[in-house]
Amino acid sequence: MNSGFSRLAVGVGLSFVIAAGSYSVSAQESSSSSSSVASSSEGQAAPMVEPTPEQVLAGKRVWIDAACFNCHGTNGQGGSSKDFPHGPSLRKSQLDTETMHEVIACGLPGTLMPGWAKGAYTERECFGMTDGVPKGTRVISAYDEQQLNDLIAYIETTFRKKS
Ligand code: HEC
Repeated sequence: MNSGFSRLAVGVGLSFVIAAGSYSVSAQESSSSSSSVASSSEGQAAPMVEPTPEQVLAGKRVWIDAACFNCHGTNGQGGSSKDFPHGPSLRKSQLDTETMHEVIACGLPGTLMPGWAKGAYTERECFGMTDGVPKGTRVISAYDEQQLNDLIAYIETTFRKKS
């Protein structure tokens, strides 16, 4: 009956979670904003094992298959095509690996960044939700968690080399 209201509430809560994720660095610097919504991802903090070359290659295939480069640039440097939305540089992204995984799996509601996980917001929990894709969210339900892990491995090792 009041589903309009609850959807709005979810939307507001969600954008707060996302804002907290995206701007965690500046939030730390200013140290005045609330840090109660620290991380949007649930548990499963598997230690980052060095990916195998096979996994990185598999991830590159997902990167190409999804055509992430259209919006983020061939080398993840940020999009500049006149035909596609300009996605930000993934090289300079401040997101930690887990948050980046969640953003790629679930997209960024209210933006042109789609979610790519199979069953996002339904079978697969996204930002704590399983009750359907929120309004204004694009979902291209294409990849399983293994493929997303491969994709992250490719991004981390190729674009965001950590020394
Ligand atoms: C249709 C264009 C488009 C495609 C395709 C696309 N993205 Fe994005 N992406 C965006 C836009 C636009 C944003 C910025 C959204 C915002 O915050 O306003 C974004 C944001 C992101 C972010 C968050 C970066 C940060 O630091 O906040 C990540 C990570 C990301 N995209 C990864 C990917 C990956 C990986 C793929 C392929 C599986 C992909 N994107 C495909 C448009 C796209």
